Amino acid sequence: MPKFDTMLSSEKVAARVKELGAQISRDYKGKKVVVIGVLKGSFIFLADLVRSMDMPLTIDFLGVSSYAGTQSTGVVAITQDLTKPVEGKHVLVVEDIVDTGLTLQYLVENLKTRNPASLEVACLLDKPSRAKVRVPVKYVGFTIDDEFVVGYGLDYDGLYRNLPYIAIYRGE
Ligand code: IMP
Repeated sequence: MPKFDTMLSSEKVAARVKELGAQISRDYKGKKVVVIGVLKGSFIFLADLVRSMDMPLTIDFLGVSSYAGTQSTGVVAITQDLTKPVEGKHVLVVEDIVDTGLTLQYLVENLKTRNPASLEVACLLDKPSRAKVRVPVKYVGFTIDDEFVVGYGLDYDGLYRNLPYIAIYRGE
């Protein structure tokens, strides 16, 4: 595996994810939540986040695709839908990174039409300098500069999701 420059160490990520989990647990006290992981990039973040959420929850996944290489195609497609309806449920969408915001905008609009009781978003990384649309994200792990990053679930063309830290990708 090539050596990448670390942007966020695994210790730093773990500490922040724990904080987010505690905050979410406080905010949803007494409620049950459906955690929806956006595939594939969120799977490691989601796995760590739910283990720091001290509350009743169920997990489902939505598959979307909008990227080829390091560029958003701007066209979002649902490649895998939820297994259960979310009508009347408290929904927390877990996303890896918000870049242009187009994927999240599409997802939030789509999920709203399914009439959840509430809908919030948790994303590990936010790249505000790249935003084309602003979608309200209640829980943000880290705000980062305009760099393409890999690791902790994030990929370049399917690779490097298994890096335990978040690294800057500058080409092979
Ligand atoms: P958006 O629609 O431009 O906001 O892109 C969101 C999706 O693009 C994320 O869920 C990621 O899958 C992917 N993405 C955006 N930026 C990066 C990055 O820096 N590294 C890896 N994937 C990224």
